[in-house]
Amino acid sequence: MFQRLRHLTTLESLSRDCIERLLDRAITMRDACAHGTRKLDLLNGRTILNLFFEPSTRTRTSFELAARRLGADVINFDIGFSSTAKGEELFDTLHTLEAMHLDAIVVRHKVSGTPDELVRHAMSGVSVVNAGDGNRAHPTQGLLDALTVRQHRPDFRQLTVVICGDVKHSRVARSDVHAFTKLGAREVRLCGPTALMPDQQEFPGCKFYDNFDQAIEGADVAIMLRLQKERMASTDLPDEAAYFREYGLDSRRLALAARGCMVMHPGPINRGIEIASEVADGPQSRILEQVGNGVFVRMAVLYEMLAR
Ligand code: CP
Repeated sequence: MFQRLRHLTTLESLSRDCIERLLDRAITMRDACAHGTRKLDLLNGRTILNLFFEPSTRTRTSFELAARRLGADVINFDIGFSSTAKGEELFDTLHTLEAMHLDAIVVRHKVSGTPDELVRHAMSGVSVVNAGDGNRAHPTQGLLDALTVRQHRPDFRQLTVVICGDVKHSRVARSDVHAFTKLGAREVRLCGPTALMPDQQEFPGCKFYDNFDQAIEGADVAIMLRLQKERMASTDLPDEAAYFREYGLDSRRLALAARGCMVMHPGPINRGIEIASEVADGPQSRILEQVGNGVFVRMAVLYEMLAR
């Protein structure tokens, strides 16, 4: 059944067909832009608000670029210079901005569930897109990761994916698991030190590892995660040199993976902590390809929500 995209808060609620349609649409956007067309004018007259309560380089910039390429107007709300700094509450800010006639709000917030709260409080007709909430979801990152893999390995039934690092605090890991399992990946492995691993019940279809050499063996895709220090108690912070020895991706460890294993990272990367420069900048790295695909995936999402 056709699932219309009204809001996007997680990938959990999307059907496989809907995810595949978004990835196909992203390819259409990429091809349209590849022919030199910088403005597609598909969302003329629409207004999109970027409402980021946490820092971002990739997500915020690519949402802005995606909206502009589709011909929409974009407002980048600057939290630091807004009335949030004077104590204005989230929903008062929401209603104030809505009064200026928005069509979509792209929100990032440290509190898990904030995008769904905005969906509940937003005026009808305003779409909400989650650009990352707490450790819960980062759906457009899940989509762009799936797109990047699909471009190189279209048959997910043959695919073993390992996600390594601070899985417990990672919204990217959660959205990647939803994307890869819905698209039929053969195996999704999660690996990290015990203190940084989630409850196994949260990821019923995944295999859990605490030894990265074992987890990466034969993997087709290795997705490395940043230590989310901003979500950890200071007592949970691992010694970085010891962490890199046990869980960092270097050339020796990459050689244990399947031949041509794709190396991915949502960014920002911490060289020498979760990934060695020789791998991050090496021939198997798809990290900058992920960034590029982020624009096309976000164009696809905004188009699906807002095109008349
Ligand atoms: N991947 C990601 O969310 O990066 P930013 O924090 O730079 O947006």
